[in-house]
Amino acid sequence: MPSRESSPLTRRDWLRRCAAGGATLALGTGLYAWRVEPHWVEVTHHAMPFVGLPAALVGKRLVQISDLHVGPVVDNDYLRGVLRRLADLEPDYLAITGDFMTTRGDEEIDLTIETLREAPIADTPTVAVLGNHDYADNFRNAAVADRFADRLRDLGIRLLRNESIELDGLQVAGCDDLWARRADLFATLNQVELSRPTLCLSHNPDTVDLAGWTTFSGWVLSGHTHGGQCRFPLLGAPVLPIRNHRYARGHVRLSGGRNLYVNRGLGYSRRVRLGVRPEVTVFTLTTA
Ligand SMILES: [Fe+2]
Repeated sequence: MPSRESSPLTRRDWLRRCAAGGATLALGTGLYAWRVEPHWVEVTHHAMPFVGLPAALVGKRLVQISDLHVGPVVDNDYLRGVLRRLADLEPDYLAITGDFMTTRGDEEIDLTIETLREAPIADTPTVAVLGNHDYADNFRNAAVADRFADRLRDLGIRLLRNESIELDGLQVAGCDDLWARRADLFATLNQVELSRPTLCLSHNPDTVDLAGWTTFSGWVLSGHTHGGQCRFPLLGAPVLPIRNHRYARGHVRLSGGRNLYVNRGLGYSRRVRLGVRPEVTVFTLTTA
C-alpha cells in the first residue's frame, strides 16, 4: 500500500498560521482585559511596622480600598459585591483613599453613598480622603466635594481634609487632593506629633514629594494610579497620571524612613485592566 506523504509547509502557510495564532492571542488577551481582569480582585497582605506602636494596636488589621469610581463606567454590582465581602477580611479599621466616584456634577453622589452602604462602615472605624474625581468633572468643583463630604460624614466615615484624628493611639492624618489644589501638607502634619506613630492618607502619591514632611517617618497610603491599568512586558505601564513613576503601585521606601503604599484601586476609568488586577490591601500593624 503506498504511504501518503504530507506536503511540506510553504512559507506562505507558516505566515498564515502565525497570523492566525497572533490574531487568536490578541483576541483572547483583549477579552481577558475587558471581561475578566477588571473585576478579578486580588487581596494583598502586608505588614505595616511603626516605631513605638501601642501594644493594643499590634496585630490589628487595617484594610485599604481606593478608586471605586462609582458612576456610569464601573459595574455597580461588582463594586457592591467587593464592598460586601470586606467584612470577611475582619478589618479593625478601613481606609479609603479617594476617587469614590466619577461624576460631572453631583449626580453620582446618591449612588455612591448607596454603594458604600454595602461596606462594613457601621462596624469598623473608617478614615478617608477625597480624590480628584470627587471634585467632579474639572477636578475643581469645591461645592460638589463639600456636598459629598457631608454625605460621607453622615455615613460615619471620618473624612480628613487636611485634618487628623487619633485611632486608639495611632495618629491618622489626611491630606486633601493635590490635583484639586486642595492639598495642604503643612496644615495636615501640623496637627500630629511626628515623634509618634502616624499614618497619612493622600489620594495622589506625588504628594510625598511636596515640601513639608520634615521628620515624618510613618506610612503614606495612596491610590490614584490604578497601577496604570495596563502593564506590558518590557514596556511597563504606558499611562501613569503621576510625575514620579516610582509610585505606580505597591510598596515604595522613601527618604526619611517614610513608607508609601499605592493601592491599585477597585474601579477603572475605562473597563480594561491588563497585568494590574484591582486590589484590596490588608495591612497588619506591627512594631518596627
Ligand atoms: Fe482613580
